[in-house]
Parts: sequence; structure tokens; C-alpha cells
Amino acid sequence: MPKRYRSEAEKDYLVEAIDAFNRRLLVISPDHKILAANQMAMEDHPEGIVGKSCYEVIPGCSTPCPNCPADEVLKNGKAALRYDLCDEIGGAADMLCLYAYPVYRHDEVDALVMLDFDLPALKNMEEKRIRSNAFLRNLIHSAVDGVIASDMKGRILIFNEAAAEVSGYSVEEALNKITIRDVYPEGGARKVMEMLLSPEYGGEGKLISYHIDAKHKSGAVVPISLNASIVYENGTKVATIGFFHDRREEIRMQKALEKTQVQLLQAEKMASLGKMAAGVAHQLNNPLSGIILFTKLVMEEYDLTDDATNDLERVLGDANRAKDIVKELLEFARQTSHDMKPQDINDIISRTMFLLENQSIFHNIEIEKDLAPDIPRIMGDSQQLNHIFMNIILNAADALEKSGKLSLKTRFLKDRGMVCIEISDTGHGIPEATLPHIFEPFYTTKEQGKGTGLGLSMAYGIVESHGGTIRAESKPGKGTTFFIELPGVKPEDGGN
Ligand SMILES: Nc1ncnc2c1ncn2[C@@H]1O[C@H](COP(=O)(O)OP(=O)(O)OP(=O)(O)O)[C@@H](O)[C@H]1O
Ligand SMILES: [Mg+2]
Repeated sequence: MPKRYRSEAEKDYLVEAIDAFNRRLLVISPDHKILAANQMAMEDHPEGIVGKSCYEVIPGCSTPCPNCPADEVLKNGKAALRYDLCDEIGGAADMLCLYAYPVYRHDEVDALVMLDFDLPALKNMEEKRIRSNAFLRNLIHSAVDGVIASDMKGRILIFNEAAAEVSGYSVEEALNKITIRDVYPEGGARKVMEMLLSPEYGGEGKLISYHIDAKHKSGAVVPISLNASIVYENGTKVATIGFFHDRREEIRMQKALEKTQVQLLQAEKMASLGKMAAGVAHQLNNPLSGIILFTKLVMEEYDLTDDATNDLERVLGDANRAKDIVKELLEFARQTSHDMKPQDINDIISRTMFLLENQSIFHNIEIEKDLAPDIPRIMGDSQQLNHIFMNIILNAADALEKSGKLSLKTRFLKDRGMVCIEISDTGHGIPEATLPHIFEPFYTTKEQGKGTGLGLSMAYGIVESHGGTIRAESKPGKGTTFFIELPGVKPEDGGN
């Protein structure tokens, strides 16, 4: 490149710039005579050094230093670097001759510049710094965990993509418009700071795996697990940094797991109770048949007083009732055969209601029906299905105690292909503590002789054998709703 013209002023500036340069710089001739030196290089030589030999002035020798980088520059015509100089001359050179490069004039090396620091290394260091900064930035931004750093005033310094997802703020918004206080509910940021300052949460300046709520931009609360620490610089707190993850999915899965465990336990309990009930029922069937048969025989063959006949009628009535219970027990344990056909559930509910609504217990009860007309049929045994509704509706009537409302609703849950039947009453409801037990055989809160506690356990067994589910929700004092879901038959299989 041709030499550029420089004004005197520009040259002055250049000289000043070289003088202001906080490193020692010498310009020497090929025979080691100092041609120029910057301010720093002259610092220890107030007598002046220009014109002297560099080796005399700087290392204090009488001959050129071995391994002088200037010699290598002269030999190769390229910049040279020496690391071993210091040792060889006892450190006297103080690394002044660490780096040397040629100054050409008319294709000849006219002079050499000697520097006390390693320019190429500096370049490498800068490159490395830029590269490692970019790497760190990338690392933070692509981290799965949310990362937020803020200064001690709460201004956000680092905010990655995962933090943006949990908080609802964009990275740009977080860095310019909000403070750390905005990503926590009221007082949350202060609480985190207090915990960071306390030694109790993982050591002073640290907070480890702490469950706390964050606040989404929309105002919603997001449960998070937070690891945080204070960043110190020379013993002064300069920032805080937090790493966190959203716990919503974890909490949802935990709840689902707990629910499944409860359901499993319930199913297991029902299965073993069912087996036991079936065994007892079988054994009771024969003696009961005997009691009924022989009571009838005595009543027919003997000339009995009215009192005796009344007593025997009572025996017969109770024995028949015991037989009904046995029948229900066997039903519950699914020991009786099923006659499965596509059934219109609305029709079954209407027929059950027809039988019941004229009975005195329903006289003051308002009955509301909301039966969806276009729902698929369900594959089932009409008598058994009748049983389910009869039991649930009679329970509702008991809970209503002759006044209130009974609602019957059917609908089709298209996405799951299930027909849902909802039976609600505005009765006294079921206390939270007893709700988990209502489907257990023999669980009853009714007085002796009024309830056997088999109605719902039987309904449970029937619904299960029809591939469906049954559950209840109740608000004590307000009422109860039973939800029964049964698989709808596809049209090609005989459904609607
Ligand atoms: N709709 C309801 N409102 C309030 N409590 C109810 C309701 N349905 C059921 N229960 C409670 O659940 C218990 C169990 O009901 P289940 O139908 O199994 O037995 P039961 O009605 O007591 O006796 P059974 O039906 O054998 O004559 C009842 O005793 C009652 O405490
Ligand atoms: Mg009942």
C-alpha cells in the first residue's frame, strides 16, 4: 500500500498516541541502535537513550543479546516473538524485547519495532473472549431452565427464552420494561432476597431447589422450583441470578398419579369384597330357600291362629328380603348372566322414572329431565341398567327428604365416544369424609332395616361390567351429582 500523506498535526497525534500507550516501545536500527523510544520506554532513563545500543541500555550488556528477536526479524523479514528472553539474560530485559516487527523502506528492513508485550497473543485472547462470550450467551439462551439475572436494583440483565416462556414477557420486554419484582407475585422478589441473605436455604448467598410461585404476565400464578445465588464482585453484591423450571406439568402428573393410586386401591378393594360377598351369597341361598319353602308349607298345611299366620308372614317377608339381598350381592359380584343388546338410555331412564314418580316419596319433588335426543345407544342389559338408575334415584329421593329437585341429564361426549348420564339432587349431600366409601358394599348411613349399603356397590359393578365409569360429586347441604359414563355403540354396530 502506498504511503499515505500525513499532516504535521496527525503525526503529532500519532506520537502522542504512542507515548500514551501503556507499554514500552523502541524503534531500533538493524545494528541495534535506538532510533526512537516512547515515553514508557524512557521512564527509567532520564538521561535519554536514543543513539545508544539497545542491549547496553535495556539489559545492561556489552554485546547483543542471544536470541534477540530483532535478529530473527532481520533473518526472516517477518515479525518474531520470544518467550525465553527473560530467563537468558536474567530477567533484565523485563520482556521489553518480547515482540519485534520490521519497518520496511524500499523493500529493505529499515528499522525494527521492539515491544514488551505479545500482540498476537492479545489478538487471540480477544478472539477467545468474544467466542466464549458468544458461547455463554448461547448456553444461557438455549438452556431448558429459565435464567434471570438482575442487578441489586432489580433491573434485569439476563433473561433467556425459557424464562420468557414461563413469565409471558418477551426477552426484549424483560430487559427494557420490567424489573425482577414483576416476575413474582407481590412481595415475592423481596422474599427471595431475604432467603438468599439467610444461611438457612442452602447457605448464605444461595437458595437451593426452593418451591415458590412466579407470576405470569397475564397475572396467573406459575409454581416454579428455583435455584438462586448472589453474584459478588470484590466482596460487593452486584447481582442475583436465578435458574428455575416450571412445575405445572410435574404437579399435574403427581395429582394424576395419586388419583390413579386411589382408583386402583378402590378397584382392588371392590374386587376382593365382591368375591367375598359372592361366596357368602351362594352359601346363604340354600338355607334361605329352605326357610321360604318350609314356612309356606307350614302356612298351607296347618290350621294356624291369626297371630301365628302373621308371625309366619313376617318370617316369609324377611326371608324374601334376605333372598333379594343375596340376589343383589350376586349381581354385584357379576355372578349372574347378562343379556347385552344395544339400548336406548333415554328410554330406560324414562321407564324407571315412570315407575317411581307416582310413589309418595316423589310427590313434592320437582323432576327435571334434559335427555339429549341424538345420542348413540349403549350396549347393555336393560334390567341391570334399570337397577343402576333405580338405586341412584331412590338414594336421591332419600337425600331429598320429600322436597327439592331431582335432575336427570344425558349427553354424548363425542371426543371420547361416551354417553354421560348425570343424576343430581338438591338433597343433604355427602360429607367429604364419607364420599370415598359410598361405593363399598354394606356402606350405609341409613338406619337399620332401611338400607343395606349394596345399592351403589352393585351399580359400580354393573357400570364396570359395561365398560363404563361411575363417580359422585357432592356439596354437603347443597346436593349430590352422580356421573355415569357408558361407551356409545357406533352406528355400524347397531347404535343410532
Ligand atoms: N344422593 C345421595 N345423597 C346423599 N347421600 C347419598 C346419596 N346416594 C348415596 N348416598 C350415601 O351413600 C350410602 C350408600 O348408598 P347405597 O345406595 O350403596 O346404600 P343405601 O342406600 O344406604 O342402601 P341400599 O341402597 O342397599 O338400600 C348411603 O347410605 C348414603 O349415605
Ligand atoms: Mg341405595
